[in-house]
Amino acid sequence: MSSTTQHWNPAQYGKDARFVSDLGMPVVDLLSPQRGENILDLGCGDGALTAKLVELGCNVVGVDSSFEMIAAAKSLGLNARVMDGQALRFTHEFDAVFSNAALHWMKNPECVIAGVWRALKPGGRFVGEFGGCGNVTSIVTALESALSSRGKMVASPWFFPHPEEYKRLLEASGFEIKTLELIPRPTLLPGDVSGWLQTFAQPYISVLPAAQRLDFISEVVETLRPLLCDTKGDWKADYVRLRFATTKPNTAT
Ligand code: BEZ
Repeated sequence: MSSTTQHWNPAQYGKDARFVSDLGMPVVDLLSPQRGENILDLGCGDGALTAKLVELGCNVVGVDSSFEMIAAAKSLGLNARVMDGQALRFTHEFDAVFSNAALHWMKNPECVIAGVWRALKPGGRFVGEFGGCGNVTSIVTALESALSSRGKMVASPWFFPHPEEYKRLLEASGFEIKTLELIPRPTLLPGDVSGWLQTFAQPYISVLPAAQRLDFISEVVETLRPLLCDTKGDWKADYVRLRFATTKPNTAT
């Protein structure tokens, strides 16, 4: 069983994954950011939604574990730094912690939630959305099957919890749940699924020798075509979102 890391390329991300931030507005609405609030954008990526929060009048710090994505966010003039979301280094600084499409990359949710709790002022909010149970199941199945026929296995790089599991983790830290729901959201891709695979599925692709990778991707695309591509040639990934809003009680420290 192998486990590898994901590397991010802001240019490729902008081409194949811009829909991630474009579809993030419902989470921004759920956050209901107020002018002058101090907000931490956890897993800010290239800063597209960080910039939106700044536009709305908030003081925003973006953090991400990718040096390349933070460089892209900084090039937009944002306050952004490289930091592991599983080891946040803030204490009672933020009115809210916001996260879109990032928490599924952090496989130690207890450490994430503990760091968010510490980062928030009493009464602060933790609002986010990420992949929930069932997310991209057909893609994961196709990747695992094509790898297995090549004699390889990869531990899932992602954390896609059941809502009850995530609720339990949040409540164990003291958060009060305002809303927490699983939302199936088939998501239109900008091209065929190969762009998605090259952008997001590197932990699966990189265990193969370079000479086998294109053939591997083609096989996964053909396995997924009958499942994710419609008669017009449009590809939709089988996304399932876990969207939540919580508060740290006013009385908490
Ligand atoms: C997601 O946003 O659900 C996602 C993105 C990349 C890999 C896995 C899931």
